[in-house]
Amino acid sequence: MQGIGFYPGGWRHKLAQPRSVFDRSYYEEVAELAERGRFDAIVFGDQLQGRDAAGRTPERLAIPTLDPFTLLSAMGAVTHKVGLVATVSTTYNAPIGVAERFASLDLASGGRAGWNIVTTAHPNSAPNFGESELMEKGLRYQRAEEFVNVATQLWDAVDDPARPGIAHKGQWFDVEGRLDTPYVPQGRPVLVQAGQSGDGRDFAARTAEAIFCPAATLEAGQAFRTDIRDRVARAGRDPDGVKIMPGLAFILADSEEGAIAKERELLEMADDGLCIEYLSESIGYDLTRHDATDLIPIDTIVAECEFPAEDIRRMLTPGVERGQSIADYCRGYARQPRGHAIFVGTPEQMAARMGHWIKEGGCDGFTLQPGFMPEELKLFVDHVVPLLQDQNLLRRDYEGATLRSHLGLSSRR
Ligand SMILES: Cc1cc2nc3c(=O)[nH]c(=O)nc-3n(C[C@H](O)[C@H](O)[C@H](O)COP(=O)(O)O)c2cc1C
Repeated sequence: MQGIGFYPGGWRHKLAQPRSVFDRSYYEEVAELAERGRFDAIVFGDQLQGRDAAGRTPERLAIPTLDPFTLLSAMGAVTHKVGLVATVSTTYNAPIGVAERFASLDLASGGRAGWNIVTTAHPNSAPNFGESELMEKGLRYQRAEEFVNVATQLWDAVDDPARPGIAHKGQWFDVEGRLDTPYVPQGRPVLVQAGQSGDGRDFAARTAEAIFCPAATLEAGQAFRTDIRDRVARAGRDPDGVKIMPGLAFILADSEEGAIAKERELLEMADDGLCIEYLSESIGYDLTRHDATDLIPIDTIVAECEFPAEDIRRMLTPGVERGQSIADYCRGYARQPRGHAIFVGTPEQMAARMGHWIKEGGCDGFTLQPGFMPEELKLFVDHVVPLLQDQNLLRRDYEGATLRSHLGLSSRR
């Protein structure tokens, strides 16, 4: 989560209270809902890019990215069981500080911490850290691997009385030190990853215990899961020890027509200009320079924007092949950012679809993205959760107290 949902105009909805995302009570309410719904965890994204570049208009998009640790601490204080997963970049941090923050979150929450390991993809992040350019992706993943290795050594040393600390000398980090804590409840926080490229998938296969990925269709989910499980086995790990949790955005109503109408209403809250700003921000290229009715200028974008060309081509080519205008493509993107699956319908249909995906090997669980917060989350908890429990797809109560136990992962202590 970040903000009140992913629809760029969602904050304009009549039920929206966009300022609530700056209010602690909003996070407390969401945390209590997630725990009432017996969720494994709350997952916070994080973005480090400058806010003024390429169409980013925080006052219009209302998707602020606040610090996940601080908000998860507040959420942990009003809950007892639900996991707390923070996204933290390995490109713009140091291992000792991150290891300490996760050890502290794990202690403060009684073993509920998880780390969504990201390498920071947005080129506009670099100037915030005194750099003119983002490090190339292959190097970012090399650094990430060593970063996680150092953090893991630090957590493991805590539990090993024979080891007073670590002495690591590597390509990226030299660390001699230790954490000032007597123990970490889970031994290590749960390691989550969200990379898509070959490098990202290999890194996940060697490191991750849960993966957050886009999978727009069941077939895409099955292909991704098969691919990751193969890579995990090749890395000498147990494929069942890596849970694949694709994003699932949703809009619910008590009739299918009602849900479709609700989604249309949310989409209509964003005019073409807002949708174009939304994509501009995502790709770090100001599309407002062009006429909204122009075809997507893919070659100019690839030449001028700093994201890897292959990533931009993969994202925009379907729109180019459909001959879409900038405005049409951006409206579609606003509905399905980053290619996550979207569900619009009734609670019964949603529970059936989730069960079908699990049964057909499309995933091990879901990273839910309510279209509009907190209303859609409430509907999910009140109306979909009981149906999933009836199908034995979701616990009626938590059995253990740690995030590792909720995910069925082995204890690290
Ligand atoms: C589903 C998903 C969620 C992500 N969430 C974040 C995030 O919150 N913050 C961030 O800096 N990067 C995020 N990323 C970016 C990844 O960490 C990674 O840097 C990026 O996807 C480029 O690597 P790739 O080509 O291997 O995917 C996310 C990626 C995916 C696929």
